[in-house]
Amino acid sequence: MHGNPNGRIDMTTRPLDRLLERSSLRRFADRDIEPGVLDQVLEAGVRSASAGNLQPWSAILVRDPDTRNRLASMCFQEFMADAPLHLLFCLDMHRNEVLARAGAAPYTAPSSFRHFWVSFQDVVIAAQSMCTAADMLGLGSVYIGTIMESPSEVREMFSLPSGVFPVVLVCMGYPREGTERKAARKFSRRFMIHEEKYSEPDPDDLWADYQEREAHRLTPIGEKTELVFRTACANCVDEAFAEACMARARGQGGFNEAQRRFGLHYRADGMPCGNLDFVDAMREAGMRFFERWEREDLVMSMQESGEEAD
Ligand SMILES: Cc1cc2nc3c(=O)[nH]c(=O)nc-3n(C[C@H](O)[C@H](O)[C@H](O)COP(=O)(O)O)c2cc1C
Repeated sequence: MHGNPNGRIDMTTRPLDRLLERSSLRRFADRDIEPGVLDQVLEAGVRSASAGNLQPWSAILVRDPDTRNRLASMCFQEFMADAPLHLLFCLDMHRNEVLARAGAAPYTAPSSFRHFWVSFQDVVIAAQSMCTAADMLGLGSVYIGTIMESPSEVREMFSLPSGVFPVVLVCMGYPREGTERKAARKFSRRFMIHEEKYSEPDPDDLWADYQEREAHRLTPIGEKTELVFRTACANCVDEAFAEACMARARGQGGFNEAQRRFGLHYRADGMPCGNLDFVDAMREAGMRFFERWEREDLVMSMQESGEEAD
């Protein structure tokens, strides 16, 4: 275990190795993060690059065990409760609104797709800076994306004002004793890094690479999984496609990893469902960047808040 009570970067390993060997951590020690260590992690986030240096993000530190338990059950991931620290990363267009008002400046960030686009990047960059710092300090972390399934509940739980929207949660802590950290295999770099212009992946080459990466894993075909998989295929294309995909699965002796991921786990027919609910949740949070901007809205909202618009 890489205990590091002094909050110093462990120089027995090259810092870069920590990055190259990193992996998500899901088994946490029952040990709090020392304030001096956490300070450095947080500072790494605050120091991150930010478009225009507007820093339109906030992170909420959650240490309370009851809240961590609640988040774990909301996200359907029990292990989360063991992490001594949850960091809820939010897109924050509220703070700059307060600032603009304080400085008598016009402000339309929640109505601007440009603002949204760069703000979302800012949130993730800051989160990753903290995760990288955590890795370097002997801690570990894992992103939790399922927090996006209940944005309204999360906004209420953490009293997020209008203009603040949860993006991702990070669980952080020391690795539990004896935890084996195995770096996940990734696509070969040649498929991801392109020289000068985009190079179309060769399907056979890509497939061979993926098969090797996933150790040729096959998931057994069961009555229920066949039904789910067939339904996903038929809903997205048609019955003939479902039949052809099943024939491939039977021929190879199970569902391959692409079939498992897109036909069973991240079901292709389920993932796009509820798109408009997410839009509604953002609207509820005061975001208007997906709508045509009308100056009148601004005038009205300023009048509602008791300000004069000239
Ligand atoms: C945006 C995002 C959301 C994720 N959500 C989850 C999650 O809900 N639960 C989980 O256990 N891991 C989650 N992960 C971690 C990924 O599963 C993990 O990064 C991936 O399997 C690769 O493994 P590695 O991080 O060890 O390289 C998420 C990662 C990202 C970047």
